[in-house]
Parts: sequence; C-alpha cells; structure tokens
Amino acid sequence: MHIDILTLFPDMIRAFFENSIMARAVEKGIITYSIIDFREYTHDRHRTCDDVPYGGGAGMVLKPEPLFEALNTINAKEARVVFPTPSGKLFNQDYAQSLSLEKRLVFICGHYEGLDQRVIDEFVDDEISIGDYVLTSGETSSIVIIDALFRLIDGVISSESLEDESFSSPLLEYPQYTRPERYCQKNVPDVLLSGHHERIATWRVFQRLEKTMLSRPELLTTASLDVESRKKLIKLLDNKGTSENGRN
Ligand code: ADE
Repeated sequence: MHIDILTLFPDMIRAFFENSIMARAVEKGIITYSIIDFREYTHDRHRTCDDVPYGGGAGMVLKPEPLFEALNTINAKEARVVFPTPSGKLFNQDYAQSLSLEKRLVFICGHYEGLDQRVIDEFVDDEISIGDYVLTSGETSSIVIIDALFRLIDGVISSESLEDESFSSPLLEYPQYTRPERYCQKNVPDVLLSGHHERIATWRVFQRLEKTMLSRPELLTTASLDVESRKKLIKLLDNKGTSENGRN
C-alpha cells in the first residue's frame, strides 16, 4: 500500500513512520509513503495556507489553492482520499478493515477551524471522525486511522495476534500477565499457572464477558455471541461465574 500524507507539520508524521511496527512494515516494503508539506505549494511571500472565514466567525480556514495544487500534483483522484474531521463518519474496526484493502490512500491533515469546502467537494472520499471530541491537529487523527488500518495488511503482524484481539470479536480482551508470579503482593491468577488449557480458555471467556459488561455493556446488547458465550454470560449475570473467576 502507498500512503500520501498532506500536512503542515511533517515532523509529526515522520516520527510515526520511522518507529516501531510501522518502520518494520516500511522496511519490508509492505508500506511506502510520501509526506507532502503543502506549504510548498504556496506562492506568496508569506507562504500563506489559511485565511479568515467568509461570513465571519472565529478561527482560520485552510485555503483551497495550495491543497488543490498539491492534490493534483500527486494525482490524488486515483487514490481513496481521507480527511479526518470531527464532523465525519465515526471510525471503527470495520472502517479500518475496508481502508486496509486499498492500494493507495491520501490523508489531508486539517488545522485551524476547518478546510475550504471546495477541497472536500473536489477530492475527499471519506470524512472520518475518530471520536466525539475535538483535537487540535489532523496529524494525530490521521496517525490513529493509519495505525488501525496498516496493521491489518497481510504480513505486518502475525495473524494469531489479530485473531485474538478485541473488536475482531464483540468482546473486549481478557487480562494478561507475565513473570514474576508474585509482584507487589499481587499474584497471577492460579488458573493461568495450572497448565490446564480448557480451564484457562473458560476463565478467559468469563474475563472477556465481565470486562465487556463493566466497560462496554452496549457491545453485549448488539453482540452476536456464540451459544457457549451466551450461556457463560447468563451464568455470570446469575453470579455463578465467580468460582471460575480465579482472581486473587
Ligand atoms: N480533528 C480534530 N478532531 C478530530 C476528530 N475527533 N476526529 C478526526 N479528526 C479530527
């Protein structure tokens, strides 16, 4: 996949692409990317990228000309163009999955109060919100979206890791422990030390159900739980699941 990112703050984006799992995906050639500072496409002495809004109001609006020129230069119309904005469609795992199947994505990082609507009308395919709150920079939301999607591309991380995690099923993840067995007077639950795979699996399902019930109960109302999980949930709600809980 190739990703183009149009930004006024290239260093913020560079840090993400040059570190951790993304750096490895780039090294393996799974991801290629270009960071485009669209200030380079201004032609006035002050390299102006924003201006006051027509009709009045607070803040500044990103001007259309530098972005039109930058987007045309990279042939953005041949790609799926994403504009992260609090007024977009809500992002989730299914959305990340659909973006991960594209050959080429372009991200426009907004700033200030907004982006001239003509840029959106001409180029943008997806206006995406990463949540019901407002960030100061489109760079952070672009990074969130890219992070969620690139890890779903074949070869970036192991398929076992993907299968196991929250949101690839309707339940949140079970708690994890590693050595030492006892730390700060807190023990690893006995069941995990038992070596009994079936009991461990049952414990983990109970933990996932309990965690989901406490943190995100709305997922359970729409969740397509399998029969076994549904039985376990009923047991948990009846408070009979405590013996399986193994927490100490
Ligand atoms: N830019 C600022 N806030 C945002 C949000 N919640 N989602 C996407 N982009 C944003």
